Amino acid sequence: MITYSSSLEGITPSKLEGFFVGWQTAPTPETHLRLLQNSSHVVLAVDNATGEVAGFITAMCDHVLSASVPLLEVRPEFRGQGIGGELVRRMLDVIGDLYMVDFVCHPSLQPFYTRLGMRPSTGMMRRNPKRQGGAE
Ligand SMILES: CC(C)(COP(=O)(O)OP(=O)(O)OC[C@H]1O[C@@H](n2cnc3c(N)ncnc32)[C@H](O)[C@@H]1OP(=O)(O)O)[C@@H](O)C(=O)NCCC(=O)NCCS
Repeated sequence: MITYSSSLEGITPSKLEGFFVGWQTAPTPETHLRLLQNSSHVVLAVDNATGEVAGFITAMCDHVLSASVPLLEVRPEFRGQGIGGELVRRMLDVIGDLYMVDFVCHPSLQPFYTRLGMRPSTGMMRRNPKRQGGAE
């Protein structure tokens, strides 16, 4: 069974193995914990059987007008069970009633987000491959 939580209490790096699948320079579990701690909001999906994190979502928020959701991932062995959708729904609840909530995604994921009430947009981004594993 999966439990959803916005608290990082009891979350150690060892509970954060198996994320950033396919990333050339994946952040370590220690770096992952640090970025969760530094986010405005997090929602975790925790596997009750093991206490491991099965999925997570982060948001950065100014609490006035806007929030953005930089990271959402469900570990491959937990995908296709509704966990990703539930993480998005819960994060939207946590963020609350703001003017703007922005997600950046690959076009193939637009149907996933459309089902959750989002509409397609365009965007611009910058990526620095040297920092993919995380800043010091
Ligand atoms: C996207 C992701 C979070 C979805 O998590 P999940 O727990 O499998 O999500 P749900 O079970 O709620 O929904 C699954 C739906 O997402 C869709 N989906 C997931 N990944 C997809 C992809 N890469 N391309 C197209 N559709 C995708 C599936 O079609 C599925 O729809 P279905 O139930 O009609 O088959 C998960 O696939 C993931 O972690 N992917 C890698 C990281 C990523 O892409 N994150 C999003 C960054 S914007």
